[in-house]
Amino acid sequence: MSTPVVAVIGAGTMGHGIAYVAALAGCRVCLTDASSEQLARATQQIERAFDKAIEKGKCTTAQRNAALERLTTVASAEECAADATIVIEAIPERLDLKQRLFATLERVVSADALLASNTSSLSISEIAAPLAHPDRALGMHFFNPVPVMKLLEIVRGAATSEATVETARGFAALVGKEPIVVRDTPGFATSRLGVVLGLEAIRMLEQGVASAPDIDRALELGYNHPMGPLRLTDVVGLDVRLAIAEHLHTTLGGDTYRPPQLLRDKVVRGELGKKSGQGFYRWENER
Ligand code: CAA
Repeated sequence: MSTPVVAVIGAGTMGHGIAYVAALAGCRVCLTDASSEQLARATQQIERAFDKAIEKGKCTTAQRNAALERLTTVASAEECAADATIVIEAIPERLDLKQRLFATLERVVSADALLASNTSSLSISEIAAPLAHPDRALGMHFFNPVPVMKLLEIVRGAATSEATVETARGFAALVGKEPIVVRDTPGFATSRLGVVLGLEAIRMLEQGVASAPDIDRALELGYNHPMGPLRLTDVVGLDVRLAIAEHLHTTLGGDTYRPPQLLRDKVVRGELGKKSGQGFYRWENER
Protein backbone atom coordinates (compact mmCIF):
# COMPACT_ATOMS: atom_id res chain seq x y z
CA MET A 1 0.00 0.00 0.00
CA SER A 2 1.36 3.46 -0.82
CA THR A 3 1.63 5.80 2.17
CA PRO A 4 -1.86 7.10 2.91
CA VAL A 5 -2.73 10.78 2.94
CA VAL A 6 -4.77 11.23 6.10
CA ALA A 7 -7.44 13.78 7.02
CA VAL A 8 -8.50 13.95 10.67
CA ILE A 9 -11.77 15.78 11.27
CA GLY A 10 -12.10 16.88 14.90
CA ALA A 11 -9.02 17.90 16.90
CA GLY A 12 -10.04 16.92 20.43
CA THR A 13 -8.38 14.32 22.65
CA MET A 14 -8.72 11.55 20.08
CA GLY A 15 -8.30 13.58 16.88
CA HIS A 16 -5.03 15.20 17.86
CA GLY A 17 -3.66 11.84 19.03
CA ILE A 18 -4.59 10.19 15.71
CA ALA A 19 -2.97 13.05 13.76
CA TYR A 20 0.18 12.67 15.89
CA VAL A 21 0.63 8.93 15.28
CA ALA A 22 -0.16 9.21 11.55
CA ALA A 23 2.32 12.08 11.02
CA LEU A 24 4.99 10.23 13.02
CA ALA A 25 4.41 7.14 10.85
CA GLY A 26 5.22 9.11 7.68
CA CYS A 27 1.76 10.11 6.43
CA ARG A 28 0.88 13.54 5.15
CA VAL A 29 -1.83 14.61 7.61
CA CYS A 30 -4.38 17.40 7.53
CA LEU A 31 -6.22 18.21 10.78
CA THR A 32 -9.30 20.37 11.20
CA ASP A 33 -11.85 21.32 13.84
CA ALA A 34 -15.03 23.39 13.87
CA SER A 35 -13.41 25.49 16.63
CA SER A 36 -10.29 27.48 15.69
CA GLU A 37 -9.33 27.61 19.40
CA GLN A 38 -9.47 23.81 19.64
CA LEU A 39 -7.38 23.49 16.48
CA ALA A 40 -4.72 25.83 17.91
CA ARG A 41 -4.77 23.89 21.22
CA ALA A 42 -4.39 20.58 19.33
CA THR A 43 -1.37 21.91 17.43
CA GLN A 44 0.28 22.84 20.74
CA GLN A 45 -0.61 19.44 22.23
CA ILE A 46 0.97 17.67 19.25
CA GLU A 47 4.14 19.78 19.51
CA ARG A 48 4.32 19.05 23.26
CA ALA A 49 3.82 15.33 22.60
CA PHE A 50 6.77 15.37 20.17
CA ASP A 51 8.92 17.25 22.72
CA LYS A 52 8.10 14.62 25.38
CA ALA A 53 8.82 11.81 22.91
CA ILE A 54 12.26 13.37 22.19
CA GLU A 55 12.95 13.71 25.95
CA LYS A 56 12.15 10.01 26.38
CA GLY A 57 14.29 9.00 23.40
CA LYS A 58 11.25 7.71 21.46
CA CYS A 59 11.83 10.07 18.53
CA THR A 60 14.65 12.25 17.22
CA THR A 61 14.52 15.99 16.59
CA ALA A 62 14.83 15.27 12.86
CA GLN A 63 11.84 12.88 13.01
CA ARG A 64 9.79 15.48 14.92
CA ASN A 65 10.63 18.20 12.41
CA ALA A 66 9.80 15.96 9.45
CA ALA A 67 6.49 14.87 11.05
CA LEU A 68 5.50 18.47 11.81
CA GLU A 69 6.27 19.41 8.19
CA ARG A 70 3.88 16.68 7.04
CA LEU A 71 1.13 18.04 9.31
CA THR A 72 -1.11 20.91 8.20
CA THR A 73 -4.23 22.41 9.72
CA VAL A 74 -7.10 24.02 7.80
CA ALA A 75 -10.42 25.53 8.81
CA SER A 76 -12.81 23.50 6.64
CA ALA A 77 -13.51 19.76 6.65
CA GLU A 78 -13.98 19.69 2.85
CA GLU A 79 -10.60 21.32 2.25
CA CYS A 80 -9.02 19.01 4.82
CA ALA A 81 -10.35 15.85 3.14
CA ALA A 82 -9.90 16.88 -0.51
CA ASP A 83 -6.54 15.07 -1.06
CA ALA A 84 -7.00 12.35 1.55
CA THR A 85 -6.99 8.62 0.90
CA ILE A 86 -8.08 7.95 4.50
CA VAL A 87 -10.46 10.31 6.30
CA ILE A 88 -10.94 9.70 10.04
CA GLU A 89 -13.64 11.61 11.88
CA ALA A 90 -13.39 12.18 15.62
CA ILE A 91 -16.18 14.71 16.06
CA PRO A 92 -18.79 14.58 18.89
CA GLU A 93 -20.80 11.36 19.28
CA ARG A 94 -23.95 12.39 17.41
CA LEU A 95 -25.30 10.26 14.60
CA ASP A 96 -26.80 13.20 12.67
CA LEU A 97 -23.50 15.13 12.74
CA LYS A 98 -21.50 12.14 11.58
CA GLN A 99 -23.97 11.24 8.81
CA ARG A 100 -23.96 14.81 7.51
CA LEU A 101 -20.17 15.01 7.62
CA PHE A 102 -19.65 11.75 5.72
CA ALA A 103 -22.26 12.69 3.08
CA THR A 104 -20.55 16.06 2.58
CA LEU A 105 -17.07 14.58 2.41
CA GLU A 106 -18.05 11.85 -0.04
CA ARG A 107 -18.64 14.61 -2.59
CA VAL A 108 -15.06 15.94 -2.33
CA VAL A 109 -12.87 12.86 -1.82
CA SER A 110 -11.53 10.58 -4.56
CA ALA A 111 -13.51 7.47 -5.57
CA ASP A 112 -11.35 5.07 -3.56
CA ALA A 113 -10.89 7.14 -0.38
CA LEU A 114 -11.88 5.52 2.93
CA LEU A 115 -14.29 7.21 5.33
CA ALA A 116 -13.59 6.05 8.89
CA SER A 117 -15.36 6.94 12.11
CA ASN A 118 -13.67 6.87 15.52
CA THR A 119 -17.07 6.41 17.18
CA SER A 120 -16.96 4.28 20.34
CA SER A 121 -20.54 2.99 20.06
CA LEU A 122 -22.67 4.47 17.27
CA SER A 123 -23.64 2.17 14.39
CA ILE A 124 -21.24 2.35 11.43
CA SER A 125 -23.99 1.06 9.12
CA GLU A 126 -26.22 3.97 10.17
CA ILE A 127 -23.44 6.54 9.87
CA ALA A 128 -22.76 5.23 6.34
CA ALA A 129 -26.43 4.92 5.34
CA PRO A 130 -26.64 8.26 3.45
CA LEU A 131 -23.52 7.50 1.37
CA ALA A 132 -23.65 6.64 -2.33
CA HIS A 133 -20.80 4.14 -1.67
CA PRO A 134 -21.19 2.84 1.90
CA ASP A 135 -18.69 0.06 1.12
CA ARG A 136 -15.88 2.60 1.71
CA ALA A 137 -17.00 3.40 5.29
CA LEU A 138 -15.94 1.63 8.47
CA GLY A 139 -15.12 2.17 12.12
CA MET A 140 -11.52 2.84 13.17
CA HIS A 141 -11.78 3.06 16.93
CA PHE A 142 -8.62 4.33 18.65
CA PHE A 143 -7.94 4.44 22.40
CA ASN A 144 -6.79 7.17 24.71
CA PRO A 145 -3.88 8.00 24.98
CA VAL A 146 -3.56 7.23 21.27
CA PRO A 147 0.27 7.18 21.12
CA VAL A 148 0.41 4.51 23.85
CA MET A 149 -2.63 2.28 23.38
CA LYS A 150 -1.91 -0.64 21.07
CA LEU A 151 -5.41 -1.48 19.85
CA LEU A 152 -7.21 -0.37 16.70
CA GLU A 153 -10.77 -1.71 16.72
CA ILE A 154 -11.86 -1.99 13.09
CA VAL A 155 -15.64 -2.08 12.79
CA ARG A 156 -17.18 -3.66 9.72
CA GLY A 157 -20.52 -2.09 8.80
CA ALA A 158 -23.24 -3.97 6.90
CA ALA A 159 -21.92 -2.63 3.58
CA THR A 160 -18.18 -2.31 4.34
CA SER A 161 -16.11 -4.01 1.63
CA GLU A 162 -13.27 -6.45 2.28
CA ALA A 163 -10.90 -4.06 0.46
CA THR A 164 -11.83 -1.31 2.93
CA VAL A 165 -11.09 -3.59 5.90
CA GLU A 166 -7.76 -4.61 4.36
CA THR A 167 -6.73 -0.97 3.85
CA ALA A 168 -7.59 -0.29 7.51
CA ARG A 169 -5.46 -3.27 8.59
CA GLY A 170 -2.56 -1.88 6.57
CA PHE A 171 -3.01 1.53 8.19
CA ALA A 172 -3.05 -0.07 11.66
CA ALA A 173 0.29 -1.76 10.94
CA LEU A 174 1.75 1.49 9.60
CA VAL A 175 0.87 3.45 12.77
CA GLY A 176 2.01 0.61 15.06
CA LYS A 177 -1.42 -0.62 16.21
CA GLU A 178 -2.77 -4.16 16.54
CA PRO A 179 -6.11 -4.46 14.76
CA ILE A 180 -9.14 -6.50 15.73
CA VAL A 181 -12.11 -6.72 13.37
CA VAL A 182 -15.57 -6.54 14.92
CA ARG A 183 -19.02 -6.71 13.33
CA ASP A 184 -21.09 -3.55 13.68
CA THR A 185 -23.04 -4.30 16.87
CA PRO A 186 -23.84 -1.95 19.78
CA GLY A 187 -20.65 -1.03 21.66
CA PHE A 188 -18.54 -3.26 19.35
CA ALA A 189 -16.17 -5.37 21.52
CA THR A 190 -14.40 -2.72 23.59
CA SER A 191 -17.19 -0.41 24.77
CA ARG A 192 -19.55 -3.34 25.37
CA LEU A 193 -17.01 -4.93 27.71
CA GLY A 194 -15.37 -1.86 29.22
CA VAL A 195 -18.57 0.01 30.06
CA VAL A 196 -19.90 -2.96 32.10
CA LEU A 197 -17.01 -2.64 34.56
CA GLY A 198 -17.29 1.14 34.75
CA LEU A 199 -21.04 1.10 35.46
CA GLU A 200 -20.79 -1.74 38.00
CA ALA A 201 -18.02 0.15 39.84
CA ILE A 202 -20.32 3.21 40.04
CA ARG A 203 -23.17 1.05 41.38
CA MET A 204 -20.79 -0.38 44.00
CA LEU A 205 -19.84 3.15 45.07
CA GLU A 206 -23.55 4.07 45.29
CA GLN A 207 -24.17 1.02 47.48
CA GLY A 208 -21.26 1.86 49.80
CA VAL A 209 -19.37 -1.35 49.01
CA ALA A 210 -16.01 0.45 49.23
CA SER A 211 -14.42 3.85 48.58
CA ALA A 212 -13.55 4.92 45.02
CA PRO A 213 -9.78 4.35 45.53
CA ASP A 214 -10.41 0.90 47.02
CA ILE A 215 -12.78 -0.14 44.19
CA ASP A 216 -10.09 0.98 41.72
CA ARG A 217 -7.33 -0.80 43.63
CA ALA A 218 -9.39 -4.01 43.50
CA LEU A 219 -8.90 -4.19 39.73
CA GLU A 220 -5.48 -2.54 39.61
CA LEU A 221 -3.88 -4.90 42.11
CA GLY A 222 -6.18 -7.92 41.88
CA TYR A 223 -6.47 -8.12 38.09
CA ASN A 224 -3.49 -6.06 36.87
CA HIS A 225 -5.59 -3.38 35.19
CA PRO A 226 -3.36 -0.32 34.66
CA MET A 227 -6.12 1.96 35.96
CA GLY A 228 -9.26 1.20 37.97
CA PRO A 229 -12.72 1.63 36.39
CA LEU A 230 -13.63 4.84 38.27
CA ARG A 231 -10.35 6.61 37.51
CA LEU A 232 -10.70 5.46 33.89
CA THR A 233 -14.26 6.86 33.77
CA ASP A 234 -12.79 10.19 34.94
CA VAL A 235 -10.22 10.06 32.13
CA VAL A 236 -12.76 9.12 29.44
CA GLY A 237 -15.31 11.70 30.71
CA LEU A 238 -18.48 10.97 32.70
CA ASP A 239 -20.63 12.60 29.99
CA VAL A 240 -19.06 10.39 27.32
CA ARG A 241 -19.60 7.27 29.46
CA LEU A 242 -23.21 8.26 30.17
CA ALA A 243 -23.95 8.76 26.46
CA ILE A 244 -22.48 5.34 25.62
CA ALA A 245 -24.38 3.67 28.50
CA GLU A 246 -27.68 5.22 27.38
CA HIS A 247 -27.07 4.06 23.82
CA LEU A 248 -26.20 0.51 24.91
CA HIS A 249 -29.13 0.39 27.34
CA THR A 250 -31.51 1.39 24.52
CA THR A 251 -30.02 -0.91 21.88
CA LEU A 252 -29.17 -4.03 23.93
CA GLY A 253 -31.99 -3.84 26.51
CA GLY A 254 -31.90 -5.42 29.98
CA ASP A 255 -30.39 -3.76 33.06
CA THR A 256 -26.69 -4.30 32.38
CA TYR A 257 -26.16 -0.87 30.83
CA ARG A 258 -28.85 1.09 32.72
CA PRO A 259 -26.96 4.27 33.77
CA PRO A 260 -26.62 4.51 37.58
CA GLN A 261 -28.28 7.54 39.19
CA LEU A 262 -24.92 8.66 40.63
CA LEU A 263 -23.51 8.95 37.10
CA ARG A 264 -26.50 11.01 35.95
CA ASP A 265 -26.28 13.28 39.03
CA LYS A 266 -22.58 13.95 38.55
CA VAL A 267 -23.04 14.83 34.88
CA VAL A 268 -25.88 17.24 35.77
CA ARG A 269 -23.54 18.88 38.34
CA GLY A 270 -20.85 19.28 35.66
CA GLU A 271 -18.55 16.76 37.37
CA LEU A 272 -17.28 15.34 34.10
CA GLY A 273 -13.96 13.92 35.29
CA LYS A 274 -10.43 14.98 34.42
CA LYS A 275 -11.50 17.59 31.86
CA SER A 276 -13.68 19.50 34.37
CA GLY A 277 -11.35 19.00 37.36
CA GLN A 278 -13.83 16.84 39.32
CA GLY A 279 -15.26 13.40 38.74
CA PHE A 280 -14.91 10.47 41.12
CA TYR A 281 -11.59 12.14 41.97
CA ARG A 282 -10.35 15.72 42.16
CA TRP A 283 -7.94 16.51 39.29
CA GLU A 284 -5.75 19.51 40.15
CA ASN A 285 -3.97 21.34 37.31
CA GLU A 286 -4.61 18.50 34.87
CA ARG A 287 -7.08 20.09 32.52
N1 CAA B 1 1.04 10.42 25.24
C1 CAA B 1 2.17 9.72 24.97
N2 CAA B 1 2.72 8.85 25.87
C2 CAA B 1 2.10 8.73 27.05
C3 CAA B 1 0.92 9.43 27.39
C4 CAA B 1 0.39 10.31 26.42
N3 CAA B 1 -0.73 10.99 26.64
N4 CAA B 1 0.55 9.07 28.65
C5 CAA B 1 1.45 8.18 29.08
N5 CAA B 1 2.38 7.96 28.12
C6 CAA B 1 3.51 7.02 28.17
C7 CAA B 1 4.54 7.48 29.17
O1 CAA B 1 5.46 8.36 28.55
C8 CAA B 1 5.20 6.17 29.57
O2 CAA B 1 6.13 5.78 28.58
P1 CAA B 1 7.45 4.92 28.98
O3 CAA B 1 6.95 3.63 29.57
O4 CAA B 1 8.16 4.74 27.69
O5 CAA B 1 8.17 5.77 29.98
C9 CAA B 1 4.05 5.17 29.51
O6 CAA B 1 3.03 5.76 28.67
C10 CAA B 1 3.45 4.92 30.88
O7 CAA B 1 3.07 6.18 31.42
P2 CAA B 1 3.23 6.58 32.96
O8 CAA B 1 4.40 5.84 33.54
O9 CAA B 1 3.25 8.07 33.07
O10 CAA B 1 1.89 6.18 33.67
P3 CAA B 1 1.13 4.81 33.68
O11 CAA B 1 2.04 3.66 33.83
O12 CAA B 1 0.03 5.02 34.65
O13 CAA B 1 0.50 4.70 32.22
C11 CAA B 1 -1.44 4.90 30.92
C12 CAA B 1 -0.38 5.64 31.73
C13 CAA B 1 -0.77 4.24 29.71
C14 CAA B 1 -2.44 5.96 30.45
C15 CAA B 1 -2.08 3.80 31.79
O14 CAA B 1 -2.53 4.38 33.01
C16 CAA B 1 -3.23 3.11 31.14
O15 CAA B 1 -3.03 2.22 30.31
N6 CAA B 1 -4.48 3.50 31.52
C17 CAA B 1 -5.68 2.93 30.94
C18 CAA B 1 -5.94 3.57 29.60
C19 CAA B 1 -7.18 3.04 28.96
O16 CAA B 1 -7.78 2.07 29.37
N7 CAA B 1 -7.54 3.69 27.84
C20 CAA B 1 -8.77 3.34 27.13
C21 CAA B 1 -9.85 4.31 27.49
S1 CAA B 1 -11.32 3.95 26.61
C22 CAA B 1 -11.08 4.74 25.13
O17 CAA B 1 -10.16 5.47 24.89
C23 CAA B 1 -12.07 4.49 24.08
C24 CAA B 1 -13.41 5.04 24.23
O18 CAA B 1 -14.18 4.70 23.37
C25 CAA B 1 -13.90 5.97 25.22
